[in-house]
Formats: sequence, C-alpha cells, structure tokens
Amino acid sequence: LTGGYPNSLKQLAEESLERFFPQTDPRLSRVSDAMKYSLFAPGKRFRPVLALAVVEALGKDPRIALPVACALEFIHTYSLIHDDLPAIDNDDLRRGRPTCHLKFGEDTAILAGDALYAEAFVLILTEQAKYTSPPMLIEVLKEVATATGIKGMVGGQVVDIASTGRAVDLATLEFIHNHKTGCLIRAAARCGAIVGEAEPEQVEAVTRYAEHLGLAFQIIDDILDVTGSVEMVGKTLGRDVDNRKTTFPGKMGVERSRSEAQAATDQALKALSGAGLNADVLFGLADFALRRAS
Ligand code: IPE
Ligand code: IPE
Ligand code: MG
Ligand code: MG
Ligand code: MG
Repeated sequence: LTGGYPNSLKQLAEESLERFFPQTDPRLSRVSDAMKYSLFAPGKRFRPVLALAVVEALGKDPRIALPVACALEFIHTYSLIHDDLPAIDNDDLRRGRPTCHLKFGEDTAILAGDALYAEAFVLILTEQAKYTSPPMLIEVLKEVATATGIKGMVGGQVVDIASTGRAVDLATLEFIHNHKTGCLIRAAARCGAIVGEAEPEQVEAVTRYAEHLGLAFQIIDDILDVTGSVEMVGKTLGRDVDNRKTTFPGKMGVERSRSEAQAATDQALKALSGAGLNADVLFGLADFALRRAS
C-alpha cells in the first residue's frame, strides 16, 4: 500500500475479521472454508478502514465501530464472489487467488456469498449492539440494508449487466458506478458517522465525501483493468473489454478518466471542510483511492 493509507486501522480490521468469523458445525466446513478463502485473501479492507476512519475523524475510539466495519467487509466479499461467477463477470482470479467458484464450485460459491451477507447482519445485531444503542443500531441496519439492495449495490450490478455490450451515456455509467460501488462506500462512511455520534452536518459532510470517493474509487478500478499489473491488482486484467463493459476508460480514454477521478477526489476533500472533523485520515484515504495501484 502506498503512503497515506491508515495501516493501523487496516490491522485492527483484519484482527477483528478473524475474531468475528462465525464458528460453525464441521458439516458446514465446505461453505465455511469457501467464506474464509475469499474473506481472508489479501484485500485492501477499504470499506472497514473508511468506517473506522470516520469514527477517528469524529475524535472517538475507532474500536467502537469494529463489528459494523467487519460486517461491511463480509458484504463486500460476498459481492466479489457473486460478481466473479460465470453468470456475471466470469472471472478466474481475485485477490491473487483463483476465484471462489473455481476453487469450490459454483454451488458452494453462491452459498458462501449468501452466508457472508446474512452473517454481516448477525454481526451487527450481536456485536455492534454492545456499543450502539437500539435507535442508532436500527439506523446502521437501515443504511447497510438499503445500500446493498435494489436501490443500492444490487441495482448497480443490474444496470451494469443490462448495459453490457451497449453504448450507454455518461449519466448511466455514473449511475452504475455510484450504485455498484459507491453505495457500500457511502454506507461505510455513514455507519461510522452514526456509531461515532456525528452531528447532522458532519453526517452530511462525510456522506458527500464518500459519494465522491466512491466514484473516484470505481473510476480507478476501471483504469487499473487497462493499465494495472496483475501482480498488484490480483485480478486478470482486460476483462472489461472482454466482457464488453461500459467503463470510464472505454468511454473517454485513460487520461480523461484520470482527470475525472481527480475531480471527484477534489470534491470529496472539499465536502469535508468546515464540518469540525479531524479530517487528515480521510484526506489520506482519498489520496490512496486515487493513486492506488492495487
Ligand atoms: C473491487 O473492490 C471491486 C469494486 C467494488 C471496485 P476493491 O478494490 O476494494 O477490492 P479488494 O477488497 O481490495 O480486494
Ligand atoms: C464490482 O465491479 C462491483 C461489485 C462487486 C459490487 P467490477 O466488476 O468492476 O469489480 P472487479 O473489477 O471485478 O473487482
Ligand atoms: Mg462486475
Ligand atoms: Mg467484476
Ligand atoms: Mg472492475
């Protein structure tokens, strides 16, 4: 990881993922192994780190958000397992390893994703409940459920699939990116704000920050599919062209896409000003999202 990434928060998240991973009956070891295979493969842990960073920016101890932060990584991992399936992106490499369905079969991969999604809610209801009172816990649950449903991540995936092989306009491309990727990043920031007891104007500020950050994050994802190195990215490259996906570089070339990502990052940083946050760690994350090579 490049400079600016809060590695201490990443480490905190990774230790907690181990701790919060559900213990199961030995009869379930195949699906449990598939969940672990994908979850504990090397990822950036960007969504949990963002949730923790928002709590830190509010001057609170980031550890109060560890369960919801880990729940977001469970959900993100589910989304990657299902995104890689033959029926969706048909990918063979993820986080530097053969994809879950190649290793365990499509049946187990589908169920591992389903289980990770449900266990995310179990984790919030059992562990986050130790730090967060019921009214705020309900807010957290509402964020996570809404961000991942038909009006959120799944909606983005639906339009992504429907747009395959078609010329879509920029507004549709932004809709795809803001939903398939932006909504979960936005939820991470907002859950951090809720758990960290942010003032309403601080919730607004981190929400706007995360919306711009999410767009920048997915534009860079598109760019890395064209210009990245397989060792760094841990995915087979060039898949967006193979799959006839509509992407930023496909639409406007790599250079203009980079300018768009830079512009979104500038907007993300601007959104934080005047909200009374210790924003350094959030600046660092936005800088990382823009410059990342993995
Ligand atoms: C990849 O996410 C899929 C997107 C939504 C862009 P990340 O780039 O965060 O992947 P990991 O978690 O580090 O593997
Ligand atoms: C993935 O978008 C978004 C979700 C998994 C929800 P991509 O299909 O571009 O992500 P990668 O490139 O496979 O990681
Ligand atoms: Mg996809
Ligand atoms: Mg994909
Ligand atoms: Mg991609």
